[in-house]
Amino acid sequence: MQTFMLILLILLLALQLGILFVLSSFAITLFFGSPWVPTHPMRARKMLAFAGLQPGETVLDLGSGDGAIMFCAVEEFRAFHAIGYEINPVLIAMAKIRARLRKVSDQVTTVKGNIFTNKFPHADVVTTFLIPSTMKKLRPRLAAMPPETRIISRGFKITGVTPTKQQEGPDEWLYLYKPDDLK
Ligand SMILES: C[S@@+](CC[C@H](N)C(=O)[O-])C[C@H]1O[C@@H](n2cnc3c(N)ncnc32)[C@H](O)[C@@H]1O
Repeated sequence: MQTFMLILLILLLALQLGILFVLSSFAITLFFGSPWVPTHPMRARKMLAFAGLQPGETVLDLGSGDGAIMFCAVEEFRAFHAIGYEINPVLIAMAKIRARLRKVSDQVTTVKGNIFTNKFPHADVVTTFLIPSTMKKLRPRLAAMPPETRIISRGFKITGVTPTKQQEGPDEWLYLYKPDDLK
């Protein structure tokens, strides 16, 4: 009986620690950038079409969540490679599992990293779905990208910058910037 109680106690403790880990993984993004709100595949499609993503191009999703935009890029637009930077370990694990299940692990890479400090690889299209304060902080890093990079912000305009192209409503707000717009 005592052994049973001990095992039960250990299991309960492990469960509590697991819940604490998951909750803190999501809470941490409130301090480091933007909270997780996934993009529906239909909206990811609109976003990538707005960017004019071509087969063979590379996409970089800054704050890639569970990988929705990356999967759409390689599966529907035949992007060569989609790379995501994500800070939340739970979402990174989800994105990696989803990539395996969809058999696109060789084309979709999720990197554990902070978008404010990690070095970015070259990309033709950079996608973001981040709150305005995060975009403001990210602006110098986006401005330093190669001039031909197409940067798409979903939902939020970068304060004080005129986008190269925009779509405001009826159901989607999309902004396309070139690095030179952000200098
Ligand atoms: C609104 S969600 C967008 C997720 C995904 N791009 C999509 O559209 O489905 C923002 C994501 O950015 C991540 N994030 C926030 N701050 C970050 C940081 N400093 N570095 C890396 N990722 C970050 C969050 O964990 C979250 O998954």
